[in-house]
Amino acid sequence: MYRKFIDKVKNHKKIKDKLLNLIDKSPSGKINSFFEKTEKSDFDIKMKDKTYVNEVVSNIAPIMNNLARKLNAKHWEIHHMWCQSYLKGHYHKWHTHPMSHFAHIYYLDLPEKNMITEFKDEKGVKAKEGDIITFPAFLFHRSKPNTSKKRKTVISFNSSIFWYHKYPDWLRGEKK
Ligand SMILES: [Fe+2]
Repeated sequence: MYRKFIDKVKNHKKIKDKLLNLIDKSPSGKINSFFEKTEKSDFDIKMKDKTYVNEVVSNIAPIMNNLARKLNAKHWEIHHMWCQSYLKGHYHKWHTHPMSHFAHIYYLDLPEKNMITEFKDEKGVKAKEGDIITFPAFLFHRSKPNTSKKRKTVISFNSSIFWYHKYPDWLRGEKK
């Protein structure tokens, strides 16, 4: 069993509706495949076009700072952020998040407890709306089929931490 961190987003109640509105205006599409079925996903949209990212980052920065501090790291970096909404019958099968140290799930709209993410390595992980669960990105996890009539919306993101210095741009493959 691997360690997971569960943190509360301090201003969740204040920012929930604002973020849901921003997400509504942000470009996205539906996914309907064997592997994943969602009402809304913007996984493939460019980060700069997502309207909610800055608001999320400013609110989760204290949580990321704390994570880096706990692990004696100096910096953290978010590589990618996306949102997904699940209506009745929607799901995301077992998967991992490649190319990052951590995966994070912010439960923005979680009307029922049993909509929580399931992990292969640990049964019964508990979190609630307004929480962010942080876990090693190689852990298999899934969003089991939503049996409720209510919508679940999460914001997921991937991050890495750095102990000495950030990797140079050329190593991260950034465009100049
Ligand atoms: Fe995931």
